[in-house]
Amino acid sequence: MKIKNICCIGAGYVGGPTMAVIAQKCPEIDVTVVDINKERIAAWNDEDVENIPIYEPGLSAVVKEARGRNLFFSTDVDAAIDKADMIFISVNTPTKTYGIGKGMAADLKYIELCARQIARVSKNDKIVVEKSTLPVRTAEALKNILDNTGNGVNYQILSNPEFLAEGTAVDDLMNPDRVLIGGDIDTPEGKEAVEALVDVYAHWVPRERLLTTNVWSSELSKLTANAFLAQRVSSINAMSELCEKTGADVNEVAKAVGMDSRIGPKFLKSSVGFGGSCFQKDILNLVYISKSFGLNEVADYWEQVILMNDHQKRRFAAKIVQTLFNTVSGKKIALLGWAFKKDTNDTRESAAIYVADYLLNEQAEIVVYDPKVKTEQIYADLDYLNTRSSEENRARVKVVNTPYEATKDAHAVAVLTEWDEFIALDWKKIYEEMLKPAFLFDGRRLLERKTKEEIGFEFYAIGS
Ligand SMILES: NC(=O)c1ccc[n+]([C@@H]2O[C@H](COP(=O)([O-])OP(=O)(O)OC[C@H]3O[C@@H](n4cnc5c(N)ncnc54)[C@H](O)[C@@H]3O)[C@@H](O)[C@H]2O)c1
Repeated sequence: MKIKNICCIGAGYVGGPTMAVIAQKCPEIDVTVVDINKERIAAWNDEDVENIPIYEPGLSAVVKEARGRNLFFSTDVDAAIDKADMIFISVNTPTKTYGIGKGMAADLKYIELCARQIARVSKNDKIVVEKSTLPVRTAEALKNILDNTGNGVNYQILSNPEFLAEGTAVDDLMNPDRVLIGGDIDTPEGKEAVEALVDVYAHWVPRERLLTTNVWSSELSKLTANAFLAQRVSSINAMSELCEKTGADVNEVAKAVGMDSRIGPKFLKSSVGFGGSCFQKDILNLVYISKSFGLNEVADYWEQVILMNDHQKRRFAAKIVQTLFNTVSGKKIALLGWAFKKDTNDTRESAAIYVADYLLNEQAEIVVYDPKVKTEQIYADLDYLNTRSSEENRARVKVVNTPYEATKDAHAVAVLTEWDEFIALDWKKIYEEMLKPAFLFDGRRLLERKTKEEIGFEFYAIGS
């Protein structure tokens, strides 16, 4: 079976880049990405590809090449479903904020709405691909909805979780370590569907990296991968605190440990804490699933990864307060970086939000500079916490367009995102324009201590 038309529901951080790369690599397949968010679709269609809604290195060029040729962005969800032989579901699956499983389980309402819409619209057989990260056995629920509310057409459900990391999405998609495809491999129809998706990826991914499994293994592998990655960050962050007490240096420890080929060097960078839309939500989801099977020890084991991360963010903010003579009330604190990591404009669960919130509770005046995050996003992130009124957030937090505006007259500067440009700032000028003593807090181990201390900064870095 050859796929000619693909529809992807959800034009977000996953749907947009993934489909842009599929379209670029498979010029004979028409790819339509749909979303209910009109502004987002309008931005994807903006004449100037630099204005697409998601910042990822290299993404604009890919969109420029394929858009209008075989890559389309639209709000007409029904039409795109109707035309497609294969439908990717790439909508958001946030943590539930209400009812049973509140604060832990994945909210599957958007997934269910997609399933019902697909069932209502489809007039011929479809392959439905779970691209969103979902709890294990979601495919069963999807199939149930599709079979019971549909028009009698046949569906094959595949699980094809996405392993891209924001900030390197295009590279990750072009050259993935593996692509995982789960399907009903015990039936000829299931096998055929899996092969159809394998053929799409085989346009550019070597066959040996296309891994096929049963659906449940595929769904659970995505949660497992994120849990393992986040666990490494929490493990090294736990060590960072011990380093600060003992005279060890967390970067040296990480290097020594990471050179062991059984452990490996990646994801051992200590920081103010991991953020992003996925790690916390997916681990909480894993914890919830484990609890629901009565596996309390399994649940507690993974939950500790989150608790450690919360501690690291709080600890960093508390360190600022303590160092500034136990009060930041009325003091100007410059935050460099708001995105959850460099090379993305995504701020979901960014450590910066929580550090800012903590400092605002201590009555600090906050000034933020981030090269890619929009002002309104910063206010929306703070408002979302509901700690104080939106007016107060606007009165106490200022967002500026240059790092020097942020740091001028500040009591302290905190680096919260590892943007490359922060390394090469004119730190001497920053020092001269700050109040003295000039405190510099490096939450990312980005800056060189020696040169900053030579300038005159009181320098603190995580884990040393
Ligand atoms: N962001 C990542 O790095 C990443 C990586 C791997 C997997 N994932 C998973 O991929 C999924 C999507 O994540 P994201 O970061 O792209 O989310 P996102 O919030 O950026 O995008 C989701 C989009 O889906 C749209 N949407 C929701 N319901 C819809 C509906 N019924 N019809 C049409 N559009 C609808 C929303 O408007 C939104 O634009 C999540 O399950 C996430 O866990 C994310």
